[in-house]
Amino acid sequence: MNSFNDYHSRIPNAYPSPDLISVMDLPTSDDVSSVNGMPMLGLGTWENEDECAKSVRAALDMGYRHIDTAQAYGNETAVGEGIENADVSREGVFLATKVWADNLAYNDVIESTRESLDKLDTDYVDLLYVHWPARAYDPEGTFDALSELVSEGAVENIGVSNFEPEQLDEARDVSDEPIFANQVECHPLLPQESLRAYGDEHGIPLVAYSPLARGGVFDVPELGEIAEKHEASEAQVSLAWLREKGITAIPKATGEEHIRDNWRSLQLSLDAEDVEVIDGIRTENRAVDPSFAPW
Ligand SMILES: NC(=O)c1ccc[n+]([C@@H]2O[C@H](COP(=O)([O-])OP(=O)(O)OC[C@H]3O[C@@H](n4cnc5c(N)ncnc54)[C@H](OP(=O)(O)O)[C@@H]3O)[C@@H](O)[C@H]2O)c1
Repeated sequence: MNSFNDYHSRIPNAYPSPDLISVMDLPTSDDVSSVNGMPMLGLGTWENEDECAKSVRAALDMGYRHIDTAQAYGNETAVGEGIENADVSREGVFLATKVWADNLAYNDVIESTRESLDKLDTDYVDLLYVHWPARAYDPEGTFDALSELVSEGAVENIGVSNFEPEQLDEARDVSDEPIFANQVECHPLLPQESLRAYGDEHGIPLVAYSPLARGGVFDVPELGEIAEKHEASEAQVSLAWLREKGITAIPKATGEEHIRDNWRSLQLSLDAEDVEVIDGIRTENRAVDPSFAPW
């Protein structure tokens, strides 16, 4: 892939207006790699309620094809509306939701997932995650219910979120279905090396949540310097670094400007030297750390 600057230097000067150029040189959905059918850049929606339908529609119309929501976000209806209003078929979108920690007993998994499908206005989700291994989580009952939903065709793949190696071992033992992905916080300030190694060994790729460290990436001088060098944003640098590592990212963005800025990370290639600098940051700063977390 070309660097951000190369990309711009290939645009002839004769284009009529900057607005037109900014639309014409956007990446398309074909520019995103996939892992097992899951596009490696998606849109997060936590704490996006009022604007959510608009954000989802704008992202899909821009080329995003992966949307991440959860029962706990209270926006599944809005996500469904966004998909309905966008210029893309339901089958063209990779849609993921999560069963909340209070709904993880067998019957509650089944019932709450049916409610999620109703709200999302769809017959199936591409990926259903266990949101946290906490509260009503009961490995055997939870995974039996998830497998049942797969056999009914309501769920294509089952995933986990916020699982550490110990919970992953247990899930692999009890689940009849393969674990499709582990969604965890991951960004240059929390590189999750041991979970990445576990995932490589057992075929469970990471999906990075809070890939911008909930805004924290804007305060890291190393990221600022790399961003300046490439005439890019710190958000783009963080997303390009995750891509270099083979990690799917689901940045949350509300307005079109942020949605577009993150989408353009696909046009940024980091040098080996940039990656080395970011790898050298070596912090373990979590932005999401509730009392019921397993770590
Ligand atoms: N599984 C879990 O337990 C879990 C936990 C946390 C998150 N998640 C998922 O991961 C998604 C992303 O994580 P997150 O929402 O915690 O944090 P994030 O994506 O790291 O950061 C979101 C914040 O960055 C801002 N932002 C986005 N793009 C920007 C840009 N290009 N320039 C400047 N600011 C930008 C957003 O502002 P605006 O909204 O104003 O654009 C928002 O304040 C969530 O939405 C959710 O889908 C899952």
